[in-house]
Amino acid sequence: ERVKAANGLEKVILREVRKNSVEVYLYGGHVTSWKDEHGEELLFVSNKAIFKPPKAIRGGIPICFPQFSNFGHLEAHGFARNRIWTVDTDPPPFPVPISSRAYIDLMLKPTEEDLKIWPHSFEYRLRVALGPGGDLMLTSRIRNTSADGKSFSFTFAYHTYFSISDISEIRVEGLETLDYLDNLQDRARFTEQGDAIVFESELDRIYLGTPSKIAIIDHEKKRTFVVRKGGLPDAVVWNPWDKKAKAMSDFGDDEYKRMVCVEAAAIEKPITLKPGEEWTGKLELSAVPSSYYSGQ
Ligand code: BG6
Repeated sequence: ERVKAANGLEKVILREVRKNSVEVYLYGGHVTSWKDEHGEELLFVSNKAIFKPPKAIRGGIPICFPQFSNFGHLEAHGFARNRIWTVDTDPPPFPVPISSRAYIDLMLKPTEEDLKIWPHSFEYRLRVALGPGGDLMLTSRIRNTSADGKSFSFTFAYHTYFSISDISEIRVEGLETLDYLDNLQDRARFTEQGDAIVFESELDRIYLGTPSKIAIIDHEKKRTFVVRKGGLPDAVVWNPWDKKAKAMSDFGDDEYKRMVCVEAAAIEKPITLKPGEEWTGKLELSAVPSSYYSGQ
């Protein structure tokens, strides 16, 4: 279902059985809502989010491409999150058939202006699918379509903002013993010592070479988010805490308590594509009652 939102931007709504639904804005190819079978929102979007180009929407799942953060000369997190994508009505076959009927294919190609700041032609196809069990699946396929015979490299993240009960009550599992770059300490490299990540202050880290599965355990909500990823070796964990929250104009002062970003990413080793080559990066999110989650 394609609708015009009250803010004037176009979005697509996917629905499944029960109250499961997903909303995707063409602006940014940006998922802004993922609801469970009871209609409860699972993603965080700031009450102060600005739904107006060129500002990226604060919350949901911004797509960081072709650059994560300031790893390069482009604007922070690249330009994909603030371009208007199109609906791809005739997508080429996707490698893995999906069981869902609720999906949408979006596409981004660089404009003349984009080619001035990043001189590489590409086709970015994004499939957003809502599984029958309520899982949210994002598949990105990026192809080098340049005719000049040149390769290009990029960094990438699905910058997912999860909605949580309270930042002090959650733990992130699956990243223990791994090395990370600490964005708060000039990207110095450390090794995670804890048996899970808990939050007591601002945290902004890039975990390297992570397993394909990460869990966010919300004790108060008795809910666990399971993040599964493919083609994306790294994982960013971010919470701005109070000071940075105040400094962000599109984020409420106390909202840091209700969100955490766990981002499937490829940062340390950029992805390189030769002409004609294609890369696939997958994200699969599920929300399960904590009692069902065994950690396996
Ligand atoms: C995170 C980065 O991924 O995104 C943080 O690690 C950054 O350093 C955050 O502050 C938000 O970025 P932006 O550009 O959306 O404000």
